[in-house]
Amino acid sequence: MGKCKFCWVLTLLLAVMVAGMGYFFLIKGNSFVGEDGRTTIVLSEIEKASVLGEMRTLLEGVQIITGALAVNDLAAVAEAASSRGMVMANSDSPDLLAKLPLEVKTLGLGAHAAFDNLAAMANDGVEANILLGELSDMMSSCVACHQQYRIAIENFDE
Ligand code: HEC
Repeated sequence: MGKCKFCWVLTLLLAVMVAGMGYFFLIKGNSFVGEDGRTTIVLSEIEKASVLGEMRTLLEGVQIITGALAVNDLAAVAEAASSRGMVMANSDSPDLLAKLPLEVKTLGLGAHAAFDNLAAMANDGVEANILLGELSDMMSSCVACHQQYRIAIENFDE
């Protein structure tokens, strides 16, 4: 009986550890709340550069897509959107993904999936003004994530 009690204590301890690790790696990622109230995601310098590089590609995509919609060039819309879809998310390293809070991963993957969806709609010949409405809806996820999150570099006091 005494031995079994030890087993239970050990099981409980392990369960707490697994739950704690789950919280850190899945839900919280590597983050803290910064001075402006946004959650600060802590990344290495290279990871930060890679995320911001992706972000600039997304912004460039929005610029190309709005321009193409204005002249009803749906092929250009589809091309710009599909290259910002899940293909882009798939190139992220597992190390980087582990540092992102769950909500950021969810919003980020949702944004990439939405670009694929927009590309499919453009390929199906959906009207430009409907596609523009879709792009506006997609951009609520850009806005939502930026309002809530920022990035800092590890061992860098900013
Ligand atoms: C899942 C969260 C998330 C989503 C979705 C997201 N971003 Fe970002 N983005 C960030 C974070 C975090 C930063 C860094 C902000 C900071 O540190 O102040 C950033 C920064 C940027 C920057 C600045 C890049 C630089 O070089 O400094 C641009 C431009 C940008 N995002 C565009 C977009 C656009 C356009 C979309 C939507 C199509 C988008 N982002 C969607 C999280 C996101």
